[in-house]
Amino acid sequence: MIEQFKKDIENGMSSNPKTLPSKYFYDKIGDDLFVQIMDLPEYYLTRSELEIFTTQTQQIIDALQVTPNTYFELIELGAGDGLKTKKLLEALDKQHYKFDFFPVDISQNALDTLEETLKTELPTVSVNKKQGDYFQILESLKKTHHPKVILFLGSNMGNMSDEVARDFIYELGKNLNKNNKLLLGVDLIKSASIVLPAYNDSEGITKAFNLNLLQRINNELGGFFNMDTFSHHSEYTEKEGVAKSFLVSNAKQTVHIKTLNKTFQFEKGEKIATEISRKYNDEILNKIIENTDFQITKKLTDSKEYFANYVLNRGENEN
Ligand code: AVI
Repeated sequence: MIEQFKKDIENGMSSNPKTLPSKYFYDKIGDDLFVQIMDLPEYYLTRSELEIFTTQTQQIIDALQVTPNTYFELIELGAGDGLKTKKLLEALDKQHYKFDFFPVDISQNALDTLEETLKTELPTVSVNKKQGDYFQILESLKKTHHPKVILFLGSNMGNMSDEVARDFIYELGKNLNKNNKLLLGVDLIKSASIVLPAYNDSEGITKAFNLNLLQRINNELGGFFNMDTFSHHSEYTEKEGVAKSFLVSNAKQTVHIKTLNKTFQFEKGEKIATEISRKYNDEILNKIIENTDFQITKKLTDSKEYFANYVLNRGENEN
C-alpha cells in the first residue's frame, strides 16, 4: 500500500503537468471532510440522489425486476454511510423480499460502522460485509449464480476518466451473469453556475479536502509541503462536462519528499491536477457502455434533473 502510494506520488510529481491521484484523498481526515462536503449547501449531488431514493423507491425496485419470492444478492460497491441505500433496503424489507445485502468497501472501518447502524435501524435485513478489491469480491460472488443487483452510486464513476470507466464497466459485466442489474448513480451535465460552487464551497471544506492530499504526503512520506503556499482551484465548462480540481503553487518553490529522496520544483501559478468529476448525459453514458454487455433499461432523475440513477441490464454474452 505505502509502496504503491510512493510510486504514484513520484510518478505524478515527475510528470508534466503534475498530477496527484484523487483516490488518496480518503484517509481518516479525508473521509471526515467528505462527510462534511456531502452536507454542504453547494454540494447538491448527495441530496439529489437521496431525493430519487426517497421519492421513487418503488420505481427503482420495479426497474430492478426483482421478485419477492426469488432470493437475490444486493451488492453495493463503495458502500460509504449507506444513507441512500437504507431507503431501498427498508422498502425491500417491508415488502418481504428475500435478499442479502453485501456492502463492499476498501475501508473495514466504514463497513463496521455501516453494519452497526443497519443492525439498529433495520435489524431484519441480512448484512454480509465484504472488505477488499471490488473485482475479487465479485468474482467470488459470481460462483453462486443467484440473481444480482449491483449498486454503484454517488457519481463515484465520475472520478474516473471515460477510458477507465469503460474498462471498469466492462470488467463489471464480465463478473456478472445474464440479466443481472447495475444501478448506477451519476451527476448530470448542467450549467457552471451550479457545478462550480459544489467544488469550491464558501466554507472552504473542499479546499481543505484537496489540501489534505499534501498533508498526507507530509505525514506518510516525509514531505515538506507548506500548505499555506498552495491554493485550491476548480474549473468546469458545460461544453466539456468535467469538473477539474487543482492545487496551485502560490510561489516558485522547491519541496523535498524524504522517503522518495527527491526534490520537486514548482513555478509560481503551476497547477497540480488532483481530481476530475465527470458529469454525464445519455450519449456519454452510452459511449461508456458501448463495448460492454450492458444496456440502459431505465433512467430516474430528481425533480431538478441534476442527478440520474440509471438501471443497466447485463445482456446476452454468457461467460
Ligand atoms: C466521491 N466523488 C463522487 C466526489 C465528487 O463529487 O467528485 C468527490 C468530491 N470531490 C470534491 N468534492 C467531492
